[in-house]
Amino acid sequence: MFKTIIEPFRIKVIEQIKMTTPEQRKEMLRDAGYNIFSLRSDDVIIDLLTDSGTGAMSANQWGGVMRGDESYAGSPSYFHFRDSVKDIMGFEHIIPTHQGRAAERILFSVMCKEGDVVPNNSHFDTTRANVEFTGAIAVDLPSTELADMDSDFPFKGDMDVARLRETFAEYGAERIPLVMMTVTNNSGGGQPVSMANMREVAGVCREFDTPLYLDACRITENAYLIKLREPSYADKTVREIVREMCALAQGCTMSAKKDAIVNMGGFLATNDEALAKEQKILLILTEGFPTYGGLSGRDLEALAIGMQEAVDEDYLHYRISSTHYVGQHLRDAGVPLLWPTGGHAIYLDAKRFATHLTPQELPGVAVANAMYELGGVRACEIGTLMFGSRDPETGAESAGPRELVRLAIPRRTYTQSHMDYVIEVVTQVWEERASLPGYRIVEQAPFLRHFSAKLTPQS
Ligand SMILES: Cc1ncc(COP(=O)(O)O)c(C=O)c1O
Repeated sequence: MFKTIIEPFRIKVIEQIKMTTPEQRKEMLRDAGYNIFSLRSDDVIIDLLTDSGTGAMSANQWGGVMRGDESYAGSPSYFHFRDSVKDIMGFEHIIPTHQGRAAERILFSVMCKEGDVVPNNSHFDTTRANVEFTGAIAVDLPSTELADMDSDFPFKGDMDVARLRETFAEYGAERIPLVMMTVTNNSGGGQPVSMANMREVAGVCREFDTPLYLDACRITENAYLIKLREPSYADKTVREIVREMCALAQGCTMSAKKDAIVNMGGFLATNDEALAKEQKILLILTEGFPTYGGLSGRDLEALAIGMQEAVDEDYLHYRISSTHYVGQHLRDAGVPLLWPTGGHAIYLDAKRFATHLTPQELPGVAVANAMYELGGVRACEIGTLMFGSRDPETGAESAGPRELVRLAIPRRTYTQSHMDYVIEVVTQVWEERASLPGYRIVEQAPFLRHFSAKLTPQS
């Protein structure tokens, strides 16, 4: 009825933001080697580097932290956690881990071997690394619609089912120990997967007797987007939609730092008892006893409560609407971005933003650094700095597949006026786009260079 999106919560505790000037930020950026990962976070006004572990916990979750029971074995906090996850997802065996990548490592170590192939709509980088660490091949099968950044197609996170069939035909089912579906599809622009696509993928997996696992970090945001965009789900509850998605899979990995709104935590879930036994053996080796995994009792309590809060539809309405609000305003100002907006982030198209820069001049870095310098807003380049590489012999730089800047929105952390400020900052950078300097890498690590590279602006 009213157009203002109000946050469905009141603020009880605040964290002071240190305000800085553009002149100060210019110096801090220079001292950080022009790499936003090297900034101190208290020198950032609005931090949109990630939505992972940066959400604000509720009073209820903080109450749970005080109730957490730290017994080594059989803690009531474990049972609370297990029952809450089962209640939302319905999986049989729930194994706590310290975060998502630990669940991935255990899952793939138990299921994959050298030469195997794991198809996914799009692997997140830690998921890919954990698949490849076992000697298996990680294959991305994003939908063809994802390539068009401007179309209104509502489910650009879908898997390309025809290519999934081709992958089974090419490698044979015996080399494919599982198929993964990432919901929402983070590496694919935070775009949702439709239930229709989930069903089709599950059907192919059943045909080849291959288990389907979810990378479920943002499953409640995905479920809400299904409710909004898939007409036959308009009258279903998010709880029902999450259950239906999970019922199509045999298990999941979860980084609870996203939709479960905790600062640390994750889990692995499966319906396969024999597999769960093997997974627990590995869990004990590196994470901990199966009733705490890599977590303390207080983390398990916060996670148990966060899972329930994550399916609250007033919360999800606010969450998805505020992401859309930022995207819509930027789009109206002419800023090129991935459309429609997904759940957790806005992805700016730096290629069309800074058309005067080649990929080797790092247009994504140019946009992200200008956002920081102008307004103290930190966002993340997902382009040539992150995914390109330098030929060790010739020194030639290869470009990344895309030049994006991700504005990831932490959950329940910022208000609408913070988002209005972000819109103003990005719009201002857009207006000044012709004068953005390109960047050159002066120092880089052989792997994951974006975290530590030192850069210099081109004069
Ligand atoms: C889709 C997806 N999978 C897995 C992970 C890894 O989770 P974690 O950072 O908790 O290890 C992330 C984290 O950003 C993610 O976005």
